[in-house]
Amino acid sequence: MLQGRFHFYEGYSMKEVVFPIYVLKALGVETLILTNACGGINEHYQPGDIVLIEDFINMVWINPLIGINDEEMGPRFPDMSEPYSFDLIHKVKALDPTIQEGIYAHFSGPYYETRAEIQAAKIMGADLVGMSTVPETIAANHAGLKVLAFAVVTNMATGIQKVKHDHHRVVEMANQAAIRLEKLLLELLENLT
Ligand code: HPA
Repeated sequence: MLQGRFHFYEGYSMKEVVFPIYVLKALGVETLILTNACGGINEHYQPGDIVLIEDFINMVWINPLIGINDEEMGPRFPDMSEPYSFDLIHKVKALDPTIQEGIYAHFSGPYYETRAEIQAAKIMGADLVGMSTVPETIAANHAGLKVLAFAVVTNMATGIQKVKHDHHRVVEMANQAAIRLEKLLLELLENLT
């Protein structure tokens, strides 16, 4: 288990952001479960919801695989047609049939997106928006790991919610949902073995 993560907005390079994923791979890890806090674009969601990420749109336009490829880690042109394991998504849905799924749009941050950016992401098909998870997902797929990702909707995205963003509220909602997420994760881990 990793405590925390490196974010691109903190000034780390994309390669630094995903270095822990390759360390996990070298340690023999085969399945990666990611979690994050994010904004909800899809109006069926509400703050506090836990959503399974089914696919992503990388709106940062750079990614951790740019540069020399380490052939021992993975292919130059990895497939990304199943970034999140259908099998693992199926297993979670068997445990919690009410869980929602969504497409996650990755923005660099650290500002909360503009209204126009959220509208653009919505038109492109995004349900969720956040500043993490996608680099790790790309690297893990490159390295052949199965990936599952849970997004905690801590707020509705800019323009969807009518009030301004409040970071303290975001942290509060994340902490509240963490209790439910922990329970779901423990159940899932019992069912994976
Ligand atoms: N946008 C981006 N990242 C986030 C948000 C958001 O609205 N909420 C929590 N992380």
